[in-house]
Amino acid sequence: MVVLIGGEKGGTGKTTIATNLAAMRVINGHDVLLVDTDKQGSASAWSDIRDKNNISTRVSNVQKFGSNLGADVKDFKNRYEDIIIDAGGKDSVELRAAMTIADLMYVPVQASQFDIWTLSIINDLISQAKVFNPKLTPYILINRATTNPLVNEVEEAKSVLQDFDHLKLSDLLLKERISYRKAAKGGLSVIELEKADIKAITEITTLYNEVFNAK
Ligand SMILES: Nc1ncnc2c1ncn2[C@@H]1O[C@H](COP(=O)(O)OP(=O)(O)OP(=O)(O)O)[C@@H](O)[C@H]1O
Ligand SMILES: [Mg+2]
Repeated sequence: MVVLIGGEKGGTGKTTIATNLAAMRVINGHDVLLVDTDKQGSASAWSDIRDKNNISTRVSNVQKFGSNLGADVKDFKNRYEDIIIDAGGKDSVELRAAMTIADLMYVPVQASQFDIWTLSIINDLISQAKVFNPKLTPYILINRATTNPLVNEVEEAKSVLQDFDHLKLSDLLLKERISYRKAAKGGLSVIELEKADIKAITEITTLYNEVFNAK
């Protein structure tokens, strides 16, 4: 399966989500390639730290740029069970190319940044990609949601999304958890931290199960 984590806004958690899913998929015994299409190279840097720290569950990764990405991913599909693409935080040829080949796409958005302008750009990109790739299933995923139980960001987000024909909100959300930053520093996923953050683990596992349709 080809899973794309993308969106045109920066800093929404794309690399965090892509790297966590990749590590979890490898730990669960699957053959995974993490494709980094962002010139910042954060996903590749994460993978390098993982190697330097001798984590035995290696996450293979490759950096790919340019409009040939679609052809490259087609080729990778013959060699890997799953491909997870981290497409950088802007509207790029890589993001558009990845959208023509992905099965699933998650667009992380911070609930506080749920603005009509950003969403209409994503909605337009998806509608264009679907012409070439009708099987593309996109979800908006709320990331870094507040842990304050009094603020109902999800209901607000749902009402904004009603106006867009291609945008569906994932049923789950990831809350603001410091563990993501701690894990990233060591080239880990949150499920591998020595001091287990049960809430973060539960949330990311729910996402993993949704993405890979795991039980
Ligand atoms: N759920 C979360 N809780 C706490 N911190 C988070 C969470 N998700 C992401 N972060 C932190 O937010 C910062 C930005 O995340 P990340 O680098 O994954 O975003 P990005 O979308 O890949 O950014 P870019 O567009 O620059 O590639 C990082 O410091 C990351 O650790
Ligand atoms: Mg990134």
